[in-house]
Amino acid sequence: MTFELIIAEQRGRVGLITLNRPQAMNALNDQVVNEITAALDGFEADDNIGAIVITGSDKAFAAGADIGAMAQFSYMDAYKSEYITRNWERVKTCRKPVIAAVAGFALGGGCELAMMCDIIIAADSAKFGQPEVKLGILPGAGGTQRLPRAVSKAKAMDLCLTARLMDAAEAERAGLVSRVVPADKLLDEALAAAATIAGFSLPVVMMIKESIGRAFESGLNEGLLFERRVFHAAFALNDQKEGMAAFVEKRKPDFRHD
Ligand code: HXC
Repeated sequence: MTFELIIAEQRGRVGLITLNRPQAMNALNDQVVNEITAALDGFEADDNIGAIVITGSDKAFAAGADIGAMAQFSYMDAYKSEYITRNWERVKTCRKPVIAAVAGFALGGGCELAMMCDIIIAADSAKFGQPEVKLGILPGAGGTQRLPRAVSKAKAMDLCLTARLMDAAEAERAGLVSRVVPADKLLDEALAAAATIAGFSLPVVMMIKESIGRAFESGLNEGLLFERRVFHAAFALNDQKEGMAAFVEKRKPDFRHD
């Protein structure tokens, strides 16, 4: 897949998307987001891809939605086109696990893009923030909803209302990121985690992703019921037979993803 503002490539069973708009700190305009969408469509349709990594550059994962593109927007421009909300949803709806590998700035829509992913792995250089208040707007792609779920109400209020940035160590303490690694190891670590995931049974991985998603979208009893139903469904998979037989026979499983 060839694009202008991102690079999409396959590394084994992992799909890698690299935001590539260096002159604007990977600011997210419609074209960038549409290209991410198209790359995800391709990776999702490809049976040989088991997990996806989205990354940026050393300086910036993404410094937010493109401010220049929005500067003259009227309410009707934003509402009619469903600016940002419409085409950004694709990351959320991806059924295969998506890892954000974040170095440098992840601000505004950049932080929101990372939070739409399933796992955030941060370089020690990463800086997260929702500084929209400085621009006279508010987060519009989930920042006021996903951030408090990830880091608590107090810290989300602090970040969104004061516009201060949070470094990688604070983000890990707060629960936003799952690991912090040295900047020069970021991509290797993210690709290794994705390769590990992609080595497991794809339907099982998808069931786990869907079940954990339920923890954020339903009450506990409904979530537990969902998990139980999907857990039982896993016994219909050949990969369940293979995984358990391999354990009993003390050998590596050969998952066929069915
Ligand atoms: C457009 C941007 C941009 C952005 C950076 N650039 N962020 N262009 N939209 N969000 C451009 C700059 O204009 C500049 O272009 C070039 O990238 C390098 O940026 P500098 O500011 O010169 O770099 P630096 O001094 O290192 O500062 C980096 C920075 C700063 C801290 C990331 O650029 C910054 O504060 N950016 C804006 C962050 C922000 O407010 N994000 C929220 C956006 S609103 P030139 O041409 O001058 O070299 C948003 C709403 C989301 O995301 C709503 C739902 C998605």
